[in-house]
Amino acid sequence: MNDNRNDNGEETVEAPGHTYDGIHELNHPLPSWWLWSFFFTIIFSFLYYLHYEIAGGPSLKQELSVAMQEIQQNQAHQPVVLETEESLTAAMRGSAVLTLGSTTFAAKCAACHGTNLQGQIGPNLTDKYWIHGKGRRTDIVKVIREGVADKGMPNWGQILSKEEVYAVAAFILSKKNSNPPNPKPPQGEAVEP
Ligand code: HEC
Repeated sequence: MNDNRNDNGEETVEAPGHTYDGIHELNHPLPSWWLWSFFFTIIFSFLYYLHYEIAGGPSLKQELSVAMQEIQQNQAHQPVVLETEESLTAAMRGSAVLTLGSTTFAAKCAACHGTNLQGQIGPNLTDKYWIHGKGRRTDIVKVIREGVADKGMPNWGQILSKEEVYAVAAFILSKKNSNPPNPKPPQGEAVEP
């Protein structure tokens, strides 16, 4: 048997002069990548300690409140543009809008309004009956943004971007009178064109 191998066949080196009662002490050095990652964790923890405990670096709670303030400031700075049927018609033009609307609807709305908008928990969005408003662009955008808290329609104003709200409203309008199978019975007032 080779003296430089242990029982597992791993290479070992005999430590010079360390033999006691016929037992040889072996030296089996750790791989250098392992040692370096170990040193790195020690250096990292030291720097971490210096930064957060000694130098008073921000805690997670402080970082969160700074980030929240930034979000609130950004929202306050968004220009309030008056939306009209005309401005919304312009914003809802194009096939890219409908594609975004369709993916957004499938991800966020279909669970309650049905994949074909036929209605489930929420009302059928393809018929001429509307609970909120008269099915105009401004009405649909408003109810999507604000939701109907006590009826189970979430408010999407904070969750969806302006473009996504427009897109999903455009998608709903594109499905008007599409007569999907198994429609939910009408809810609200009939709106004649
Ligand atoms: C958790 C279920 C749920 C989800 C998810 C949901 N809705 Fe609704 N939605 C409702 C309910 C319930 C109503 C009816 C509110 C009422 O009775 O006043 C409603 C009403 C509406 C209306 C008004 C319909 C009318 O007749 O006036 C629109 C438009 C609408 N939802 C769009 C959306 C869009 C777009 C999404 C996705 C971004 C969405 N909803 C996601 C449950 C939901």
